[in-house]
Amino acid sequence: MAFTEISLKLDEIPLGQSRCVTVGDAQVGLFRRDEGLFAIDNVCPHRGAPLHDGQVSDGAVVCPWHQWQFQLADGACRNLPRVRVASYPVEVRDGAIWIDLATMEGNPA
Ligand code: FES
Repeated sequence: MAFTEISLKLDEIPLGQSRCVTVGDAQVGLFRRDEGLFAIDNVCPHRGAPLHDGQVSDGAVVCPWHQWQFQLADGACRNLPRVRVASYPVEVRDGAIWIDLATMEGNPA
């Protein structure tokens, strides 16, 4: 694993809200929920909508353009089983957010 500290701090994401950050070449959507902090690719694979602008319901973000749903825990699409976005390990250390872009979770082999 290769965690990288990002510029955003946890207290800059109110509980229940989301943000988009650029990490290297990636646009990462961060979602702060009661269950924890989740990091997934922020670009919808359908037509490129920014997923962090979507509403979260039952553990999934709903794409704001055409309503595909992506699970925050693993990036799996609930509408189309073969579609997913990358999800990344994320840790909070003393209020700082660290993301491991080298390790994508939940992706098919
Ligand atoms: S752009 Fe996300 S469902 Fe169409």
